[in-house]
Amino acid sequence: DEPAAEAAVPQAGDPSLVLLRRIGRADPASLDDYRANGGYAALRRAFDLGPAGVIREVLESGLVGRGGAAFPTGRKWEATARQPDHPHYLVCNADESEPGTFKDRVIMEGDPYALVEAMTVAAYAVGCPKGFIYLRGEYPRALRRLELAIATARSRGFLGDDILGHGFSFDIEIRRGAGAYICGEETAIFNSIEGHRGEPRTKPPFPVEKGLFGKPTVVNNVETLVNVLPILTMGAPAYAAVGTPSSTGTKLFCLSGSVHRPGIYELPFGATLRDLLELAGGATGGGLRAVLLGGAAGAFVRADELDVPLTFEGTRAAGATLGSGVVLVLDDTVDMARILLRIAEFFRDESCGQCVPCRVGTVRQEEALHRISRRPPGADSADDLTLLRDVGRAMRDASICGLGQTAWNAVESAIDRLGVFSPSEAK
Ligand code: NAI
Ligand code: SF4
Repeated sequence: DEPAAEAAVPQAGDPSLVLLRRIGRADPASLDDYRANGGYAALRRAFDLGPAGVIREVLESGLVGRGGAAFPTGRKWEATARQPDHPHYLVCNADESEPGTFKDRVIMEGDPYALVEAMTVAAYAVGCPKGFIYLRGEYPRALRRLELAIATARSRGFLGDDILGHGFSFDIEIRRGAGAYICGEETAIFNSIEGHRGEPRTKPPFPVEKGLFGKPTVVNNVETLVNVLPILTMGAPAYAAVGTPSSTGTKLFCLSGSVHRPGIYELPFGATLRDLLELAGGATGGGLRAVLLGGAAGAFVRADELDVPLTFEGTRAAGATLGSGVVLVLDDTVDMARILLRIAEFFRDESCGQCVPCRVGTVRQEEALHRISRRPPGADSADDLTLLRDVGRAMRDASICGLGQTAWNAVESAIDRLGVFSPSEAK
C-alpha cells in the first residue's frame, strides 16, 4: 500500500488550493477578472510548447481521468492526435449524474472560463476544430454561465478563428442532457449528440479511434480538463510532486449525507478518509456507520477503515474505489436496507434496457432486496442472498457498459463488508 502522504489539508481560501482557487474570489461572469487571477496563462504556455509539447507535459504530469475510471489523460490525447482520420473532436463530459457527485457543477458555475480555456488547450494539443460540452440538463446556472463565458471568449478572440493570432481555430457548442443517467456514458453521449437514442455502443473501438460522428474523439470529464491548467502553469514536475506517484495532483471530493459540513473539498491525493471527515466536521448522529465511496457504483467502507489513503491505488487495494470522488457519510441512525433498496431502484430505473444482464438483472436485484427487507429481522434469506450474488455476477461479467457492470457493487459491499442482512445485524 502507498503510505498516506503528509497531507497539509487545505482550508477554504488556502493558497494551496489549486482547482478551487478562483471560486468565490473571481467574478465568474468576468473574463477580465479571470485573466487578473491567472486566466489564459496556460493557453499562452501551450502556444509556446506546441501541440506535441503540451501532450508531453500532460503525459509527464501523470494526470488520470477524474470522471471515475482514472484512465491516463495524456495517453488518450496522444492516441487521438495521431489518428489520420479527420476532423478530431473534443467532448467534455459534463453530464455529472453519479448520485452524490457535484464537483463539476461547482467548477462550471464558479469558474466557467477555466473550462473554456482548458478545452481550448486540449483542442490545440489534439487538433480539434470543434468541441462539445455535454451538460447535465439539471444544471441551468452552469448553462447560463458557460454560455456567457463562451460568447465573451469568442468576442475577445479567445475562441473562434485564429485564436490570439496563433493560426489555430476552435469553437465550443453546448448540448444539454435530458435527465438520463446513462447519457453520461461516453458513447451514449455520442449517440445523444448525433440525435439517436442515448444508448451506449460496444467498445472497442474506443472513442480515440472512432467516436463522435465516427471520428477520433477525446472525451474528458470537467475536472480532468481543468487540471491541465495548473499542469501547464506549474510545469509537469511540480504538478506531479503533489499527491502520490500513481495519483498525482489534487482531487475534489463531494461530501454529503450525515456530515456536519457537507460540500466540495480539495485535497492532495494521499490524504486519508479520516483527514477528510475531520475537515468536514465529522459525522452527525451518534456515530459513523459507514461511508459510501465512489457513489452508487462504488463501495461501502466501515468506520474502522478510515485510514484508507484517498488515492486510486489505495482505495483499490482496500477493495473500494475512489470513483468520481463521492464521499457519502452514513451515521448510525441510517436504515441500510432502505439505502440499498434506493440504490437498486436507481439502477433499475436508469438501465437503458439494451442488454439482457442489466435490463433483467437490475429488476431481479431490486425484487430480491424488497423480499429480504419485508421479512422479520433474523428470518432466513439465504436463497435471496444467493440469487443476489448470481445476478450480480452476471451483470458484472456480461453487461455492455459500466452501469450494468457496477450495479451490484454497493449491495455486495454492504453485505460482505458491513454485514448487512447477516443474522448478527438483526435487531
Ligand atoms: P472505462 O474504463 O471503460 O474507460 C475510461 C476511459 O478510458 C474512457 O474514455 C475510454 O474510452 C478510455 N479507454 C479505456 N481503455 C482504452 C484503450 N485501450 N484505448 C483508448 N482509450 C481507452 O470506463 P467508463 O465506462 O468510461 O467509465 C466508468 C467510470 O465512470 C466508473 O468508474 C464510474 O465511477 C464513473 N461514473 C462517473 C459518473 C459521474 O457522474 N462522474 C457517472 C457514472 C459513472
Ligand atoms: Fe444499457 Fe445497462 Fe446494457 Fe449499459 S449495461 S447498455 S445501461 S442495459
